[in-house]
Amino acid sequence: MAPPSARAGPLRVDPTNLYSLRRVTDPASRAMTTRENLFRPIHKGIRSMVYELGLRLGVVDFTNLAESNAVAIQLRADLTSAVSSCILCLLQAHSRHEERDFFSAVRPFDPDVVDLMMKEHHEIAQRVGGIARTCDELLAISEPARRVEVGDRLTLEANDLFALYLAHLNNEEATLVPVMWERFSDEQLRTLRAQFYNTIPLPRFEEWMRWTLPALNPNELVVLLSGMRTDPPPNRFSDARRLAEETLDPPRWSLLERALSH
Ligand SMILES: [Fe+2]
Ligand SMILES: [Fe+2]
Repeated sequence: MAPPSARAGPLRVDPTNLYSLRRVTDPASRAMTTRENLFRPIHKGIRSMVYELGLRLGVVDFTNLAESNAVAIQLRADLTSAVSSCILCLLQAHSRHEERDFFSAVRPFDPDVVDLMMKEHHEIAQRVGGIARTCDELLAISEPARRVEVGDRLTLEANDLFALYLAHLNNEEATLVPVMWERFSDEQLRTLRAQFYNTIPLPRFEEWMRWTLPALNPNELVVLLSGMRTDPPPNRFSDARRLAEETLDPPRWSLLERALSH
């Protein structure tokens, strides 16, 4: 527990203005377009994953065994593996990375907010477990009408998880980012991010970047990539640059390439 002087005041939420930059006392910190935001890029990738999967689930023909199995496997395959890229695996892994690399850094300054976010992670893990069980149930059914029934339940459960997860992503950005901007320099934030990006296996890093890079706006791409360029070894900038070239459409890539060449 941090000494009282290191703690920010209690979290005050204005319901008419949920995402104002609360607690940022330094007006210069409000220049959010240039500050390092450890949550925004990967959260945009996760939102994109959730939107795409929601659409995919909505059109599955659960009477068709192959289609039904494919979506269940995409959601839950290898949930116990540390490097599987199934959607539920990535959603779980994101919570673990945050707890290990980011929450521990914020805790001394704002333990209440970290506890609140940990509670949400716990709730997410419970829901993920429930959906994984529904996927297992679906994979074991041979009768089409019964698959439709369980498929409907899977769709509703997955959308409940998405709603919870999307709200959680917003909560983290609204509460943790202002504390981090107040307490850490951009250089310190990049060191924290490097702890995450530089220590995960390359295939997992690539998986995250394939979702994240296409989901960013031009300014966020420049801030993320030019920040990564200064990361300590093993520096992942060249991998991120390669993945940007692969995943961005040509006009967006050439804008980024030009910005990175300065
Ligand atoms: Fe989280
Ligand atoms: Fe998050």
